[in-house]
Amino acid sequence: MITSAEAMRMLIVAHFKGDESAFRKAAEEYIEGERRKNHHVLANDLERVLSNTNGSHKSRTEVLSLLGMTNGNVPKDKDRDVVLVDICDPSRELSGLILADDVRRTIDRLVFERRGSELLGTYGIRPAGKLLFCGPPGCGKTVAAEALARELYLPLATVRFDAVVSSYLGETAANIRKVFDFARTRPMVLFFDEFDAIGKHRTAEDEHGELKRVVNSFLQLLDSFKSETLTIAATNHQGLLDPALWRRFDEILYFPKPDSKQILDHLTRLFRQIGLSHAIKLDHVAKSLVGMTHADVERLAVDAIKQTILSSREVVEPDALQEAVERQRARIQVTEQSQRGDGLEPSLKPNRRGIK
Ligand SMILES: Nc1ncnc2c1ncn2[C@@H]1O[C@H](COP(=O)(O)OP(=O)(O)OP(=O)(O)O)[C@@H](O)[C@H]1O
Ligand SMILES: [Mg+2]
Repeated sequence: MITSAEAMRMLIVAHFKGDESAFRKAAEEYIEGERRKNHHVLANDLERVLSNTNGSHKSRTEVLSLLGMTNGNVPKDKDRDVVLVDICDPSRELSGLILADDVRRTIDRLVFERRGSELLGTYGIRPAGKLLFCGPPGCGKTVAAEALARELYLPLATVRFDAVVSSYLGETAANIRKVFDFARTRPMVLFFDEFDAIGKHRTAEDEHGELKRVVNSFLQLLDSFKSETLTIAATNHQGLLDPALWRRFDEILYFPKPDSKQILDHLTRLFRQIGLSHAIKLDHVAKSLVGMTHADVERLAVDAIKQTILSSREVVEPDALQEAVERQRARIQVTEQSQRGDGLEPSLKPNRRGIK
């Protein structure tokens, strides 16, 4: 009987030697080890993958489909025949995100903890399994969930609230239950993005009995949910959430708007693929953009890059960057006004004052 660490080593060595039969033997040992640990779902999955591959090479998508992680196998709404979760093989990298120091530290610790889950398990301790991501829009909640899934080699299952919330009485709670049941069948990152769609305060005025039932059943299901799956809920309306929800999460991460240093970091990365005119002082630009989100910064940088390419210039010139900043400012103003419900001024145009 060998340990799973030894089986993993054998697997890697066999893979690099191109030794198919040693690889199969190591994989069988590994599966056996998982079965001894009572990880029957995982063991069965791996066995199925092994017997279906027959030595031929498969693409990542094919392997995911063998693992039963494609949309064909996910739960559906009974009446509308729509899938309740979207499964994807995440591509964002954690190293590509600009994160506040405390957020980065917490995420690194989580990854470390999840990787050591086997060791923790021998002491009867579970790694953190339920996270709440909050903070303003466009500051990295969704991309961090993707990157975390990638870092942990797990598929990302994003809950589709448009499908989960049913007009039929009782059906929404039943759908949430189906989602949790599905997430128990194999390890994944189960992502309740824009989760306030169901987590609104139970005493909110516009709420009716169904919503109360839905939130209650979500709380119960979340509480009793014990699995290797990592559950992440994200919201930019944390003030709306019921206080009872907060204590059900192992970690709460707040993704703030970036400071000038983080904006400078982000701009530097975004402009890496194209030259910048020496007349542009990127640190000054970064300071002038404080208050914008990462998504704003990204949009204006891509805008400036597009203009530069289309006007056949070699480098981004100050006027192109300035115009992109102004367009983004105008866009933010329109969004804020529409959120406040103000009538839009017909004279609302990008101002032409330039980058300070
Ligand atoms: N911390 C970050 N580092 C790098 N890029 C980021 C970061 N945050 C956001 N972005 C960029 O902005 C875009 C929007 O980010 P994201 O979807 O993660 O925001 P969000 O916080 O989930 O917003 P919402 O609350 O509206 O869902 C992403 O596609 C990403 O490219
Ligand atoms: Mg999001």
